[in-house]
Amino acid sequence: MKKTLSFEESLNLTHKQTINYYRNYINKGLATAFGILGLNILDIKSASGCTLELSNGDKILDFTSGIGVLALGHNHKKIVDVERKFQDLNIIDIQKFGPNKLQAALAYNLSQLLPEDLEVCFFAVSGAESVEAAIKMSTMAKGREGKYFISASEGYHGKTLGALSVTDTENFSEGFLLGLPKENTIKIPFNDIQSYKEVVSKITKEKIIAIILEPIQGQIVEPAKENYLKEICEISKKNNITVIFDEIKCGLGRSGTIFSFMEYDCVPDIITTSKALGGGKNAISAMVARRKVFNKAYGSINKSTLHTTTFFGLGEGCATGIETLNIISDKNFLDKVKLKSEKTFKALNKLKDKYPKYIKSIKGKGLFIGIEFDFDNIISSFTFKKIKIPFIKNIKTVLMGSLIREYLHEHKVLLHFTNAQPETLVFLPPLIISDEEIDIFIEATDKVLHKGLINLFAKFIYGNIKFGNN
Ligand SMILES: Cc1ncc(COP(=O)(O)O)c(C=O)c1O
Repeated sequence: MKKTLSFEESLNLTHKQTINYYRNYINKGLATAFGILGLNILDIKSASGCTLELSNGDKILDFTSGIGVLALGHNHKKIVDVERKFQDLNIIDIQKFGPNKLQAALAYNLSQLLPEDLEVCFFAVSGAESVEAAIKMSTMAKGREGKYFISASEGYHGKTLGALSVTDTENFSEGFLLGLPKENTIKIPFNDIQSYKEVVSKITKEKIIAIILEPIQGQIVEPAKENYLKEICEISKKNNITVIFDEIKCGLGRSGTIFSFMEYDCVPDIITTSKALGGGKNAISAMVARRKVFNKAYGSINKSTLHTTTFFGLGEGCATGIETLNIISDKNFLDKVKLKSEKTFKALNKLKDKYPKYIKSIKGKGLFIGIEFDFDNIISSFTFKKIKIPFIKNIKTVLMGSLIREYLHEHKVLLHFTNAQPETLVFLPPLIISDEEIDIFIEATDKVLHKGLINLFAKFIYGNIKFGNN
C-alpha cells in the first residue's frame, strides 16, 4: 500500500511541496493562476483577525474574508471558545434520529432575527445546497403547473446543477446539462423592474415558480436600487410567485444590517444564508422559509423527508452559528459596520476625485465595496497583440492581476476580483476591521495609483506573459 501522510507530517509540508501537491492533486489551472497573481508568497503560519502571519514573519492584511466567510475575521476568540467548550463537553455532533438541541436553538434564533413568518429552517453545509433547497421547496409549494424560475443577469447562486441553472455569470454553466431545463429559466437585468413586469405579464402566473435575487449582486458588487426589491416582492405577492433572496454573501452584517434585504422595506418568502454563519470555523448553510411556503411544500408527515441531507446542521456548525448570530446581530456591532463603511466610502471617493483618470466609480454597500477602474483608458495606450497566458481570457483580468500583485507584494494587502467584472477590485474585509486597517488599505490604494497604473501593467505583463509571434 502507498504511504499516506499523518496529521503531523501534513503540518510539516514545505511550502514548495504544498504548491506541488495543490498543482498535482487539486487544480493545476488554479495553481498556475495563483502563481501569476503572486499569491505563492502566502506561506501562512497562522491567522488572526484580519492578519495572516507568514512563515518568514511577514504580516499580510487579508481583505478578502475568504470571499465572505470571515465576517468575524480569522480565529475569532468567541468562536474558538465555543468550539473548545463543544469539544471539552463531548457534545454530540450528529444525531439523525430524534430532536437535536443545537439545531433547534439555531433555527429558533434565525426565526427571531427574521421578520414575519420567515421562520422555518433547513440546514446544510454549502451555500449552493441552501439554494437547491430553496429551488425544490418553492417548486413543491407552487404545485404541478409551476415551470419557470426567474433570476438576474450576472447573478451568482452556486455551481451545483440546480443552483447553476439560476446562476448567470462567466459562462460557468456552459457545457453542462443543467438541473432545471434551460427553457424554464429566465434571466432578467438586475435593478430593472420593468423587465420583471414584462415577464410576469407575458407568462401565465400559475407557471412562474419563483424569482431568486441577491440584494447585493456579489460578482459585480451591485446593490439593489432603493425600491427595486420592494416592487419585486409586491408584484410577486400579487402573482403568487415565491421570492427568494440569496443572502449567502451579502447577509450577516455585511451591509450593516443583519440581513441585507432588511434595509429595503420588504420581506421575501425564502432566504438563503451561509459563508459567515459558521464564524469562519465551520461550513454551515441555512435556508429559511415562510411558514406558509414550508407548509405547502413539506407540511405533512408523508412529505417530511422529501428534502433531507446527511450533514443537516452538525453540532459544532450549529454551535458556532448560534454564537456568530449573537455577535453579529448586536446593534453596536452593526452600527460599527456602518461607521466603518462610511469612512471607507468617504476616503475612496476622495481618491476617485484625486485620480479621475484611473477610478471610474466606487460602488457597493456596507463593507462590500468595489473600486471600478477605467481600464479602457489604459488599454488604449498599449498595443496588445497575441498574449499567451494560461487561464486568463481577458486582458482586463491581466491588468487587475497586476494590481492584486502590487497590493500584496508592495503593501502586504490581500484583495480579490471576479472574472465577471475584472475591472472592479473588491474590498470585502472582515467586519471586525479596525480604523487603522482601513487607513492602511486607503494609503496602499493611494500609493498604487500614485505610481501610475501604466508602469505597473507594463512591468506585470512583460514579467509574466509570453507574447505570440504573429
Ligand atoms: C450569493 C451566493 N450564492 C451562492 C453561493 C454558493 O455558495 P457555495 O460556494 O458555498 O456553494 C455563493 C458563493 O460564493 C454566493 O456568493
